[in-house]
Amino acid sequence: MSSTTDAIGTSAAQTRSAELEQLIRKDPGRFRILTGDRPTGRLHLGHYFGTLHNRVRLQDLGVETFVLIADYQVLTDRDVAENLTEHVEELVLDHLAIGIDPERSTIFTHSALPALNQLLLPFLSLVSVAELQRNPTVKDEIAHSRQNAVSGLMFTYPVHQAADILFCKANLVPVGQDQLPHLEVTRTVARRFNDRYGHGTPVFPQPDALLSTAPLLLGTDGTKMSKSRGNAIALSATPDETARLIRGARTDAERHITYDPEARPEVSSLVLLAALCEGVEPGVVAEEIGAGGAAALKRRVTESVNAYLAPIRARRDAYAQDRALVRDVLRAGNARAGAIADATLEEVRAAMNAAY
Ligand code: TRP
Repeated sequence: MSSTTDAIGTSAAQTRSAELEQLIRKDPGRFRILTGDRPTGRLHLGHYFGTLHNRVRLQDLGVETFVLIADYQVLTDRDVAENLTEHVEELVLDHLAIGIDPERSTIFTHSALPALNQLLLPFLSLVSVAELQRNPTVKDEIAHSRQNAVSGLMFTYPVHQAADILFCKANLVPVGQDQLPHLEVTRTVARRFNDRYGHGTPVFPQPDALLSTAPLLLGTDGTKMSKSRGNAIALSATPDETARLIRGARTDAERHITYDPEARPEVSSLVLLAALCEGVEPGVVAEEIGAGGAAALKRRVTESVNAYLAPIRARRDAYAQDRALVRDVLRAGNARAGAIADATLEEVRAAMNAAY
């Protein structure tokens, strides 16, 4: 994809997302959300202000929400998924801590849903190898992969992701920009399945992306906050760890603090983090610190982050004491999602004339 088509695709998705926000407010019952993460480590503030916060908001608006822990997808860019059980449980804990309510929302792992995974086979028949090879997010991941051979899963996981979304007929997928090509694959699979097998009654919806409007938070080294770069502040970090990470964050040589994301990305990201935690505009935070310089800014960010995360961390600690509960939440979520996947697979087989 060229950068021009990328920009057009993104701005169309932004316009559509704004419309969707209106519709959600009017009639949340019309929507079903599927969203997910790969279990590769604990979630951090970049995830929180980028997507997690939004998940809780949508759940609380009354939209039925499915949270997928995409365990098979961990194997796209590495040979073995290390510490998988631990990472899966950490993700459940993170979601419970931020306010995802397992009574209203369904948290599940896709490896536990045989019927979801079986959808992959007919779905793969609906896309060409050339289409799989053109996916810009996959290309980018191959370029950054530590593996010396590209596996078949790397090329096919966007189709697996279509199964993740379509098994429960989700019509809304909150995502960041990098996931837009995958959502396009899902829409293509849904459309082609309906055309080929729907006989006038579509089996699948064509889900919409709901693009996050959250600004990007940088990690403590000034690059995108990411688990693998060691520059992230985990939701589960202690207040002392948080203070240490923020103290070590990169700033710049100019003493006076301003909010100018283009010219001063590192300082501005710290200002933004404090502002997000305090629920105020970043310009206000920058002005209040002004001549106080980087040291004052870092003190302010540390206090704001620790105050904001205190209740989340307290809930997380409480749940972490009760691993049996965490496993029960997952087991119940897998059972609920599994029943839906079974019913969808039945429908798919019937549509394909394969219900014997
Ligand atoms: N590919 C997503 C990521 O790497 C995770 C994911 C898997 C996902 N299946 C999904 C996201 C379905 C949204 C919908 O972050």
